[in-house]
Amino acid sequence: MSAEKKMRIGVYPGSFDPMTKGHLDIVVRASKLFDKLIVGVLKNDSKQSIFTMEERVSLIKKCVSELDNVEVEMFQGLLVDFVKEKGAGTIVRGLRAVSDYEYELQMAMLNKHMEENVDTIFFMTDIHNSFLSSSIVKDVAQNGGNIKGLVPDEIIEDVYKKLRP
Ligand code: PNS
Repeated sequence: MSAEKKMRIGVYPGSFDPMTKGHLDIVVRASKLFDKLIVGVLKNDSKQSIFTMEERVSLIKKCVSELDNVEVEMFQGLLVDFVKEKGAGTIVRGLRAVSDYEYELQMAMLNKHMEENVDTIFFMTDIHNSFLSSSIVKDVAQNGGNIKGLVPDEIIEDVYKKLRP
């Protein structure tokens, strides 16, 4: 890449507690739009996560190991500050059902209000993943159900180990 051409960097933020197949699908598709895609994992002490920060990051790293332009980092505080710090200009989010829209619109508008130069783009979730969420994965795994097809194959065992030791 020439020195004059600015690197296009995107940030895909979330809690990823844990990463689902739907998340990974968005990462794969979004990684094609950017020179670098950073998966930003929120370290939020007030939000109860089942998986620790380190576990969530390590599970995502396992899933994206084949994607050369994808990095995984944790962030704290405001998302727009993390985006700016990384030299990124775009936030990536996935949309499943209409019910996601209101919250996502509010978040995108708030982030734009706080940082004029940062835009949010949305990927429509693949129809096969439209019912998926991290909460559903945890519920199924905790109750001994089959999570194949719900989380990437690479992390199935790790998720069971955590939720059904
Ligand atoms: O996977 P999630 O929990 O839906 O992701 C939500 C996330 C992490 C994108 C959002 O909570 C966030 O950006 N938090 C950081 C704090 C912040 O910037 N708040 C203002 C925008 S909501």
